[in-house]
Amino acid sequence: MKNFTQHGNTTVFEHCVSVAKYSLLMAQYLEKMFKLKFDKDSLVRAALLHDYFLYDWHDKTVPGHNIHGFTHPRKAMLNADRDFGLNEVEKDIISKHMFPLTIMPPRYRESVLVTLADKWCALCETFKVDVSSYIIYRVNYRIALANGELETEGQTAEQAL
Ligand SMILES: [Fe+2]
Ligand SMILES: [Fe+2]
Repeated sequence: MKNFTQHGNTTVFEHCVSVAKYSLLMAQYLEKMFKLKFDKDSLVRAALLHDYFLYDWHDKTVPGHNIHGFTHPRKAMLNADRDFGLNEVEKDIISKHMFPLTIMPPRYRESVLVTLADKWCALCETFKVDVSSYIIYRVNYRIALANGELETEGQTAEQAL
């Protein structure tokens, strides 16, 4: 995933990490604000694997790559299930993340979050808009804080990461 470009200068790996962070951020916010419950393990696993298609989709000489947007969710789901084993929530998240291109809508709230985070990250990466950096910084900070990697609230996330 580190060897393939996704959008702009962003690798597939970097894109998936960003999507996982945004999805988790939204889940944490919704849990806090609306007392909704999310399967965050499945959310993060599937977000990290949602583009696990393992080819360069920019190479249009390869048959089928011109319809990559429609076909890669299923390819990524099958690859991820083969290599890591997926539960039903994870399968739904990965195979529906391109909705509405995938005709079937997301079945779980976790799938909706990854679908939204994926589109947001794709926009930022394609247009090289770095409005995400502060939010990612906050997510890294929260993760470091939760992991006990920060001694005090005042310590920066960079010091811990
Ligand atoms: Fe995708
Ligand atoms: Fe994606």
